[in-house]
Amino acid sequence: MSSIVILTGAGISAESGLGTFRDVGGLWTRYDLTEVATPEGFARNPALVHDFYNARRANALDARPNAAHKALARLAQDYGGTVTLVTQNIDDLHERGGARDVIHMHGEITRALCAACGHRWDAPRVMDPADPCPACAAPRTRPDIVWFGEMPYHMDRIVDALEAADLFVAIGTSGEVYPAAGFVDIASAAGAETLEINLEPTPVPGRFDRVLTGPATRAVPDWVASLL
Ligand code: OAD
Repeated sequence: MSSIVILTGAGISAESGLGTFRDVGGLWTRYDLTEVATPEGFARNPALVHDFYNARRANALDARPNAAHKALARLAQDYGGTVTLVTQNIDDLHERGGARDVIHMHGEITRALCAACGHRWDAPRVMDPADPCPACAAPRTRPDIVWFGEMPYHMDRIVDALEAADLFVAIGTSGEVYPAAGFVDIASAAGAETLEINLEPTPVPGRFDRVLTGPATRAVPDWVASLL
């Protein structure tokens, strides 16, 4: 029995039609992240930030899980050991692909958060800066997304899993955003084998023990099939 920790990024949802961030034409080449993905940007212009995430929510809700999401759900269900699935993605395609207990370290586009009292609830398809919090009525509603400068969610649980991992796998992530980018080092230092699955190898050579290249919808099911 062994323990696998999987980290996914935007690349796993790319073939479901959701844009990545840093590839050619990616979201951060078209939008200023300091305006739409920071607490300061939200304080300056909440309507702009809601517009940006309303568009992300519409895209995510209209997208369908692909073969890679489904293969990871199958792995979690059928593997003899432990599988911990951590995602940087805010879409719910892992869940709709059949995965349970997905750790959304950067939050979820389908959830709303009150910036005044911390209450959380299911987000409507379209959010508005004037929406009052259902718990405290403050008009400080925001998407339940972790912005730059904020602490990702569930870090204690993730680090515990990394330190107990026999295998760490990063799928469809550029490895440019910390702390997620450092998970490979934590797992490696704890003795885990490390594997990257990406359309192309990420720029730091030798960071992973093994690299599988190819589109996630092909590479991930092939890798899962090799384990089951
Ligand atoms: P990036 O856009 O930085 O990287 C996407 C990665 O997916 C790249 O390495 C691509 O090579 C790879 N990729 C693209 N298409 C693929 C495919 N079909 N199959 C396999 N791989 C593919 O996205 P992330 O690494 O997820 O955070 O970005 C990390 C964080 O930066 C996001 O969670 C978001 C963003 O700012 C916040 O907003 C807080």
